[in-house]
Formats: sequence, structure tokens, C-alpha cells
Amino acid sequence: MERERETQVSNTNNILMLPGDGIGPEVMGEVKRVIDWMNDKMDTGFAVEEDLVGGACYDAHGCAVTDETVAKAQAADAVLLGAVGGPRWDAVARQHRPEAGLLRLRKDLDLFANLRPALVFDALIDASTLKPEIVRGLDIMIVRELTAGVYFGQPRGIETRDGVRYGFDNQIYSEPEIQRVARVAFDLAKKRGNKVTSVEKSNVMESGIFWREVVTKLHADEFADVELGHMYADNCSMQLVRWPAQFDVIVTDNLFGDILSDCAAMLTGSLGMLPSASLGARDPETGKIPAMYEPVHGSAPDIAGQNKANPLATVLSYSMMLRYSFDMTDAADKLDQAVQNVLAHGLRTADIMSDGMTLVTTSGMGDAVIKELEAMG
Ligand code: IPM
Ligand code: MG
Repeated sequence: MERERETQVSNTNNILMLPGDGIGPEVMGEVKRVIDWMNDKMDTGFAVEEDLVGGACYDAHGCAVTDETVAKAQAADAVLLGAVGGPRWDAVARQHRPEAGLLRLRKDLDLFANLRPALVFDALIDASTLKPEIVRGLDIMIVRELTAGVYFGQPRGIETRDGVRYGFDNQIYSEPEIQRVARVAFDLAKKRGNKVTSVEKSNVMESGIFWREVVTKLHADEFADVELGHMYADNCSMQLVRWPAQFDVIVTDNLFGDILSDCAAMLTGSLGMLPSASLGARDPETGKIPAMYEPVHGSAPDIAGQNKANPLATVLSYSMMLRYSFDMTDAADKLDQAVQNVLAHGLRTADIMSDGMTLVTTSGMGDAVIKELEAMG
């Protein structure tokens, strides 16, 4: 992507850290240690500020994210988020639920492109519920549209018409909304397997017909050298478990992307290993691209506070931050390698534990990653 060709102008890189709820603070604690280590040993120059989001923010301020925090997120060079939600806030009104904080950050920062890699680590191949020969070497990138579609479409509501109650949402996409996310997918494909699969339901939805038409035109106009295929969303979910290796980059709307990325995540055997990046458009004046990085997993309230959670998805989200927001490819490669090495040495948190491996805690995994970084010099 374009941003990788630009160098950072300021000397300090400001990160806003939003640990959130459940296991969020624990996994973020381990990332904080990695950030400190890199500041110390690799001169990464990160200044980290912490703030509240989700249920934690609701408890303190009565809303899932404050205006001040949104402003800080907009001003930061990148946001790193842990997880939000938990049964404690089930009874809270929808507009104040922990998830509302996440949705507002996505919308207000205009983070329209959500990158969700599904990568199978060789050392974890047995953790997948699929046969090893189906998932070995798997490397899929799902690009999910994140700020439009049925998640935000108007009108929406629950109302009574002629004595009958209705619930409704609106799936709506503008041409530029489709173009900009498809452009991200094509650009990414060029650096990977050069193949994009665009996913919709053009057999039943007008918005699906439109999606396919816009992607097809953009491809012909600007990306004819990239292989493009189209697939219905239901078929895509089936193909993901049948023969996932056929995919390189998948581009799809907000709702299908939500569902298909959970499916793709499970191919890898552990949600605890998967990072994500949500990116906006470059500001023509400052050159900055708004970005938020978060693990794909949730807040796992059942194991919160027990030092059991896997911090690697958040560590790898930080690695994506190094790569996409700061062009620090060496640091990102090094961190990715450290994670691979730790797994190769047989260390496992409970979610990825298997016979003959060594069970470690959240902080034990953090220790191991730092030890590995030290050893790599
Ligand atoms: C995700 C989550 C969110 C979504 C929820 C927590 C609002 O499932 O990031 O995939 O539906 O987008
Ligand atoms: Mg989801």
C-alpha cells in the first residue's frame, strides 16, 4: 500500500492503547512490555497513552466511549484495542453497550477497510479441526468493509405498522464505499498471491448486484493484472471449509465479512492467534492514515483475570501496526519470527495446548516472546 513508501515525519509515534474489558487488559499488558522493549532496544520511539473503552468506560462514564477518547484516537498515529464486552453489561441499553464503543471508533475514524488475516502456523497445525493437508500453509486475507452496509444503514428500527410489529435494517452501499475497499483488496493482492475473490449475494440482493458491478469495473479500469473471481457468500463459507487454499484475498461487505472472518479464523485452530487491522483513508494534508489494530478474539469473560489468556493475537496486532502504520518492516518481521520461535519451542497457552507441549500463562507467554526477541539480538 501507498503508506509503506512514506517515512514518518515526527520523531515520536503516538499510540492510544484501549485495553477494554475481560482479558483485554491482561493481553495488552504483555504487548506493553514488548513496546517498552522495542523502545529500549530498537529506538522505536513510541509514546503510549491509555484510556477506557467498552464496559470499563461505561462503568466510569456511563457510555462505551467518551468524546475525549474518540478525539484522542483521531489524533493518535495508531490505536491498539484489546477487547470489549461481557455479560455484566447485557442489560445496558444498546447505544451504551460495550460494542457501541467499538462501532463508534470505527465509524468516527472512518476505518473502512478491515484486514483479517487467517494464517496457519505450522506448529499449530493440529489445533485446527480440519485435516492438516487441508490447512497446511494457509494464508488468507479477508478484507471486510467496516463502516457501511447493514451495520450502519438507515432507516433501521423496530416499529408497529397497522398493528403488526416489524424489525428492519438497511443494507446500502454507495459506489465510492465499494470502490475504496476493493482498491485496498487489489493493492494487497498485488503483494501476495495476486488473486481477489469478491463475495456478495448478487443472486438475491440488489446491493449484491451493484457490488459485483462496481468491483468488476474497478478491476477492468485499474487492476486488470490481478486475478478476480466472484462468489456468493453462502458458497464462500462452504468453500472456506472445503478447500481454503483456493483463496488469497477475499473482499466483502460488513456483515458477510463479519461471518466469513469467524469461519476463516477457525480454520487456523485458534482465535487466540489472529490479529486485525482497520484502516481509513490518507489525510491529504497530514499524510496520516487513521488505523486501529485489535485481536479478532473477544473479551473471554470466563477466563478474565486468571492469567490464562493467549496474548499472541494482540502481540501480532501490534506487529501489523509496526508494518502498516509505521513502515517498520524489520521490527514487524522480528516480532513475527519471535512468535513463531516461541511456538516452535513448544510453549502454549491453554487455548492452543496439545499433548507434549508446555503450558504457559499469559505473562509466561509474554516472557517467552521477550526472551526470544533478546536472543535474536
Ligand atoms: C467483530 C465483532 C463485532 C462486529 C461486534 C463485537 C460488534 O463481531 O469485530 O467481528 O460484529 O463487527
Ligand atoms: Mg465478528
